[in-house]
Amino acid sequence: MFIFRYIIVFIAAATILLLTGCAYATDPMASGEYSSSDFTRAGKCQQCHAIVHSQWDGTMHSNAYTDPFYQKEFHAASTDTDGLVDEFCSRCHIPIGVLSGEIPPADGSHLSEIAHMGVQCDFCHTVSGSSGIGDASFIVTPGNTKWGPFDDSKSASHASEYLELHTRSEFCGMCHQVTHPVNGLVIDDTYSTWNESYYGQNDVTCQHCHMSPGVTEFKANPGRSASNSPKREHVSLHSTVGGNAFVTGMLGAEKERKLAIERLQKAATLRLDVPRTAIKGEEVTIEIAITNSGAGHMLPTGVSEIRQMWLEVEVTDNQGQMIYRTTKADTSLSTGPSVMYNTVLGDSEGNATLSFWLAEKVIADNRIAPRETVSEQHTFTLHDNTSYPLTVDATLNYMSAPQELIDHLFGEGIHEVPVIAMVKASGKIHDPEKPVDTQAQAPGFTASMALMVLAALTITLTIIGSYKKQ
Ligand code: HEC
Ligand code: HEC
Ligand code: HEC
Ligand code: HEC
Ligand code: HEC
Repeated sequence: MFIFRYIIVFIAAATILLLTGCAYATDPMASGEYSSSDFTRAGKCQQCHAIVHSQWDGTMHSNAYTDPFYQKEFHAASTDTDGLVDEFCSRCHIPIGVLSGEIPPADGSHLSEIAHMGVQCDFCHTVSGSSGIGDASFIVTPGNTKWGPFDDSKSASHASEYLELHTRSEFCGMCHQVTHPVNGLVIDDTYSTWNESYYGQNDVTCQHCHMSPGVTEFKANPGRSASNSPKREHVSLHSTVGGNAFVTGMLGAEKERKLAIERLQKAATLRLDVPRTAIKGEEVTIEIAITNSGAGHMLPTGVSEIRQMWLEVEVTDNQGQMIYRTTKADTSLSTGPSVMYNTVLGDSEGNATLSFWLAEKVIADNRIAPRETVSEQHTFTLHDNTSYPLTVDATLNYMSAPQELIDHLFGEGIHEVPVIAMVKASGKIHDPEKPVDTQAQAPGFTASMALMVLAALTITLTIIGSYKKQ
């Protein structure tokens, strides 16, 4: 009877694989296959890989289990599902804990010190293969061999072996692609949206942007990966940050907090289209285009039902009077609520939920695809007492989580979620009655005229010079 059920599950899984045409993981490694003492502490690796260690220490990988926000959500999920997800969540957030059978229990009472360190050195470098994409599809062989990107590396401490997987997005895709274990809903599609994009098609990998100084492209980082090791053209950075300036800030990881803000500020560009002039009493329409110019996946990605990204638009007149405003919260200050760029998940009753373990469908997906441009139009009326010129300010904002969720989990006023301004743009609208001073309107104009005169002068002098030589 039991075997029969397994066969049905197997056939179903095989059919899904055939239908999707992708090698998505079906059979993760068994829990308790190893002991945590089979793995080496990060502190040991630090003895020779001090720089790598300092980059990794403080990242969300090093905090993947201790992350207080994860802890709250994990316990909520465990309670909501009667412990059904305990092992599932832990596979990615505390992989050594699962491989060693120390978690579950969900309360963490059986955890060794080493497992606590989340996604760590001797987990990633004992990955010797994978069974596909997503849902913790890693194959791990703990021991003396460390797998990595070099085919010629030698160390007195351990054996080294080259594994192409470490240089590919498929390595990251083992965890950065999450499917609901019961109903198959895709909860995190970072790998698949990367794979379908320009970046996936052109082999711009996760490592290029997240493990090199380039942030939005590959840039070599010459140096040594261990003390006394040969100098190499590129050693990868282990400061794998995303946009999380909230939890890194909460944990006092100042370097990672700053890197996350810097990354967010390189992810998108804005283009503002405002009329040069507008008449009082009439409607004015402005257009703002947002381009996902820097992220190799959806913007935002990951737990995108929890992340928030929105455009704040403000129009003020010369006296500082607010003419028009959209903000995230539909408050008395705003003329209307902003459009939210994220995903909305629905539970079995069809109600929106942030608890993705209870989700059964995607109600809305309003994220911006890699290299995609979306635009917003805003229309407002100029009243008679408006004073020219008007200033239009647009800011693209990001929040790691809604403040209400954090208040609900931690208590009101305990943690403030920072609002990160990713990119800003502004423009002016002038009085149609008064022709504006062209120089004041375009400050670049005088400079470019001067440059043109200078260029003409240089050409003339060169011609005169060459005549003189003859
Ligand atoms: C006694 C010093 C020492 C210790 C301790 C040490 N390593 Fe290494 N490791 C080296 C040296 C030297 C290299 C060679 C670097 C090179 O070739 O550029 C190296 C290379 C590596 C590589 C590259 C392998 C490849 O083929 O791409 C990885 C991955 C690695 N170490 C991981 C670790 C991990 C994980 C730990 C802790 C469990 C650790 N190392 C502990 C000295 C050490
Ligand atoms: C999330 C998984 C992950 C973690 C955690 C991790 N590494 Fe790596 N590491 C990688 C990948 C992937 C590469 C290869 C990147 C590339 O060049 O494509 C790499 C490369 C290396 C290399 C080769 C040299 C270089 O920097 O390119 C060394 C040495 C190394 N890691 C050591 C460590 C040590 C020591 C730690 C802990 C302090 C650590 N790694 C933590 C994934 C990880
Ligand atoms: C063992 C599973 C695992 C692997 C493999 C892995 N990650 Fe992660 N990664 C995680 C988890 C879990 C988190 C979230 C931790 C948290 O926020 O509590 C995370 C967080 C991150 C973040 C920070 C996100 C933010 O919001 O700031 C980035 C960036 C990231 N990973 C990139 C990578 C890259 C690039 C690779 C491949 C080189 C990789 N990861 C491989 C599990 C993994
Ligand atoms: C072209 C550069 C680029 C590539 C390729 C890329 N990323 Fe990113 N990634 C970014 C930028 C920029 C951000 C910050 C904006 C954001 O949060 O989405 C980011 C953010 C993230 C975040 C945090 C998302 C959030 O808002 O919580 C994760 C996780 C992540 N990347 C993982 C990956 C993984 C895994 C891959 C490969 C499958 C990858 N990235 C490929 C540039 C890139
Ligand atoms: C297949 C791997 C995987 C599984 C399984 C998984 N996660 Fe994650 N989780 C990730 C990755 C990767 C990220 C980082 C994405 C990002 O930053 O947006 C993440 C991020 C999170 C975050 C955001 C943390 C922060 O600081 O912003 C929470 C909360 C979270 N996971 C909770 C859970 C819970 C609860 C479960 C089980 C119901 C779970 N995860 C299962 C891989 C996984």
